[in-house]
Amino acid sequence: YSLFLSSCSTSFVCLLQGWVRSARAQKVNVFLHVNDGSSLQSLQVVAGAELNDPLLTFGSAVEVSGILQESPHEKQPLELQADSIRVIGECDPVDFPFKVKKRHGLEYIRQFPHLRCRTNAFSSLLRIRSEATSAIHSYFKDNGFVQIHTPIITSNDCEGAGELFQVEPAGADEHFFSVPAFLTVSGQLHLEATAGAFSKVYTFGPTFRAENSQSRRHLAEFYMVEAEISFTQSMEDLTKVMEDMFRSATEHVLARCVEDVDLFHRHVTPGHRVSLQVFLSFVLLSSLRITYTEAVDILTRSSEQFAFPSDWGCDLKTEHEKYLVKHCGNVPVFVTDYPYDLKPFYARDNQDGPRHTAAAVDLLVPGVGELCGGSLREERLSVLRARLEQLGLEDAYSWYLDLRRFGSAPHGGFGLGFERYLQCLLGVDNIKDVIPFPRFSRSCLL
Ligand code: 4AD
Repeated sequence: YSLFLSSCSTSFVCLLQGWVRSARAQKVNVFLHVNDGSSLQSLQVVAGAELNDPLLTFGSAVEVSGILQESPHEKQPLELQADSIRVIGECDPVDFPFKVKKRHGLEYIRQFPHLRCRTNAFSSLLRIRSEATSAIHSYFKDNGFVQIHTPIITSNDCEGAGELFQVEPAGADEHFFSVPAFLTVSGQLHLEATAGAFSKVYTFGPTFRAENSQSRRHLAEFYMVEAEISFTQSMEDLTKVMEDMFRSATEHVLARCVEDVDLFHRHVTPGHRVSLQVFLSFVLLSSLRITYTEAVDILTRSSEQFAFPSDWGCDLKTEHEKYLVKHCGNVPVFVTDYPYDLKPFYARDNQDGPRHTAAAVDLLVPGVGELCGGSLREERLSVLRARLEQLGLEDAYSWYLDLRRFGSAPHGGFGLGFERYLQCLLGVDNIKDVIPFPRFSRSCLL
């Protein structure tokens, strides 16, 4: 009703259905704030004392009919003068885990995954998440990408990292699909198949990784935005899409969810607004770019004691990524050209040496670490075949080799973790607070 309220100037009959956010009874009048989830703002309901009901408590579901009219109070343009109030669903204020007018922390409300959308903070988060989803789809649509529904069940392990959930009917003693099948860890390979006929494709859907991690940036089920672009000339073709998408989605959300974002930036993660503005201005002007080799040099020269080795050839761990972002001034940084042996078979061989690298890229951002990961893909049939043979994968990926046999074009793509994007936008520390129902190792509530 927020849009409707701002455009309405005359009074008319209205039916309001929602949940009580506050109830105050005075001698002559009862005042309620009722919220239906469409906006952070609740609508004020004014009723004669005769309509008061002890069941009108914080959290109860109500239906109010009356006249919507201009409000004498400055803070709200309109209020509902009630003719009738019906309590549709009671809410025991003692047992209800959230208390009226109390600002509960994200950690507290996380204990109630089935109820937390009733708090202001989490309902704001869900509206922002919904708007960010639309913004990402709009970005791709406006830029000529075709959306592909890549499968959730697949027989391949795209990342080759062995973090697969296997899919079989309960109690089955043979494979349902005749072959082992898994929940997807990335839609990339299927996107690559379609990138053989469409020059720009994307997918945006659930992704699954059996990572045994309780970290603040890993989930077992998360949403990934993936894009694949054909006829690429260089890595810049990828980093530009990452930057443009980030900027376009963020500007869209900041413009459309002013109050919801404000709630986070003011009360939940104070100070984050400034960091985000710095971040955006960097993305606008072009983010920093360093090679993996330069990153390793920075780490080796630092006086920091890292728990994991940071020699050339070692994977960059969270602690390294955090240090690099800090070292670069807490701004987004692209790290490119990783050691060839660290990257999956599909990453394009830079054919350099003796420090042999592949054309892969990660976008590291303050507070979150890796936000996007991508690469140019090996489009040369002979090079790809040799690598698959070396890994003993040429039979499993003969279909993938076909993509290079028939009209292969240079191409590349990337994946962005949607929850990490929301963390970055709002400054939320724990990834479990930006997804409606988090799944992670040893926890699958509801
Ligand atoms: O870097 P990743 O593993 O890249 C791929 O899967 C590529 N196949 C994507 C592509 O090129 N099409 O994952 C991409 C992003 C990461 O940068 C991170 O933001 C997010 O997905 N991500 C996770 N987010 C939450 N929980 C997890 N367990 C995640 N693992 C990766």
